[in-house]
Amino acid sequence: MTYHTPKAVIIIFGATGDLANRKLYPSLYRLYRNGKLSENFAVIGVARRPLTNEDFRNNIKKSIEEFNDPHINPDDFASHFHYNPFDVQDLTHYQKLNAFINELDEKHETDGNRLFYLAMAPNFFGTIAANLKSQGVTNNTGWTRLIIEKPFGHNFETAQQLNNQIRHAFDEDQIYRIDHYLGKDMIQNIEVVRFANALFEPLWNNHYISNIQVTSSETLGVEERGRYYDESGALRDMVQNHMLQMVSLLAMEPPARLNPDDIRYEKIKVLRSLKEINENDVDQYFVRGQYDRGEINGKELDAYRESNGVDPDSNTETYVAAKFMIDNFRWAGVPFYVRTGKRMAKKSTEIVIQFKDLPINLYKEKGDTIDPNLLVIQAHPDEKITLHLNAKKGDYDTTSKPITMYYDKKHAEDSYTPEAYEVLLNDCLHGDSTNFVHWDEVALSWKYIDIISNAWEGNKAAFPNYTSGTCGPKAGDELLGANGHHWWKL
Ligand code: BG6
Repeated sequence: MTYHTPKAVIIIFGATGDLANRKLYPSLYRLYRNGKLSENFAVIGVARRPLTNEDFRNNIKKSIEEFNDPHINPDDFASHFHYNPFDVQDLTHYQKLNAFINELDEKHETDGNRLFYLAMAPNFFGTIAANLKSQGVTNNTGWTRLIIEKPFGHNFETAQQLNNQIRHAFDEDQIYRIDHYLGKDMIQNIEVVRFANALFEPLWNNHYISNIQVTSSETLGVEERGRYYDESGALRDMVQNHMLQMVSLLAMEPPARLNPDDIRYEKIKVLRSLKEINENDVDQYFVRGQYDRGEINGKELDAYRESNGVDPDSNTETYVAAKFMIDNFRWAGVPFYVRTGKRMAKKSTEIVIQFKDLPINLYKEKGDTIDPNLLVIQAHPDEKITLHLNAKKGDYDTTSKPITMYYDKKHAEDSYTPEAYEVLLNDCLHGDSTNFVHWDEVALSWKYIDIISNAWEGNKAAFPNYTSGTCGPKAGDELLGANGHHWWKL
């Protein structure tokens, strides 16, 4: 495949914000350093604050300070960045922006390509999209793409409104909805492990798999995001997007080809096959929790309800455990357990595929238990794939013991792992939407999640119900216990 470095003017709305400084500028820098961006690019930072170009470039240099790469002069990199103070309501600002993009397009020879990145709260997405279109800013000669961040709506209805506003100015195939989990190397590995190994695909179904467990736990609390989080909660913040995306990748059928449409079509089918539940049955499938005070590494921690911006009587969940059932031939009867929470014992992102037990244990009389085979894909803290098997013990007798075979990315030759945002920016610049979320996925996942949030909103929970620094509420374990399963360790 011939590889062309992309050419574009990238317009970042929210250019002084946290996401831009922490993720976007360092990711653009890495792409630049790794030769994935040519000199033919320019970035226009758009935000309210009245900064000079020099201030802005100093911010950029600060955000890439940690790299300290002797081969790259930070000033050269920063010279691609330009600042444009902006009022999203003022139409004349869009006209000036358009003229400025044209100027940079000519200067950097970017072939008329424009990438708009909305790295800000979604309240203004609709206004910005409408104004970009009405003022002709999207009427360019090259390609036009739009990247947007979550939250993509608060429920199905608001997501649909937001989508309609954006679709007014951009077609579906121009819209790149970020789910940063899809940019993680180990999450992308799900597909490769499944479809590039003769060993797994024949076993990847309800004949051989007992259950699948997906964990994304954090030790941090809500920190400074209390105001946002209290309106959102773990269900909307994590389950509707990241967790359901991982479930889709684990459960999808092999795509006909590795192209965005075929892959997304298969993921959409999984979401369509989720077993429907009604509000009265929610407790059988979903558990919610909220953290109380506690201690991590000897440090005293406050309760969720004591955080800034959080209602002292809040009914918002900071933990969710769920059991998804997928009603299709491949998966009927196999629970997909999912858990996510803040202030848990460990920061971990991990998938465990538990295979079914053998019909008999030939080693039982010798007192040996046979553990189930597990395939573990870990994205955090380490990037690892582990296969848990049973093998002979090292003594004179034929007895068995559990062993693990593993691949640890940090010891691999190609151990460079690009940041999720770096991967996703690169994909978007190349017009590859595979690892972005299609509207149909957003719509289906919200429709499912709305049932749970409606049930929870109308019903106050006995919160707080787990201590900071633990594995979540007891009910999260009982959810699996009811089926004779248990969570594999955190
Ligand atoms: C974000 C959520 O989407 O994902 C945060 O809004 C959460 O609340 C974060 O902390 C977790 O991402 P990661 O990559 O650290 O697992």
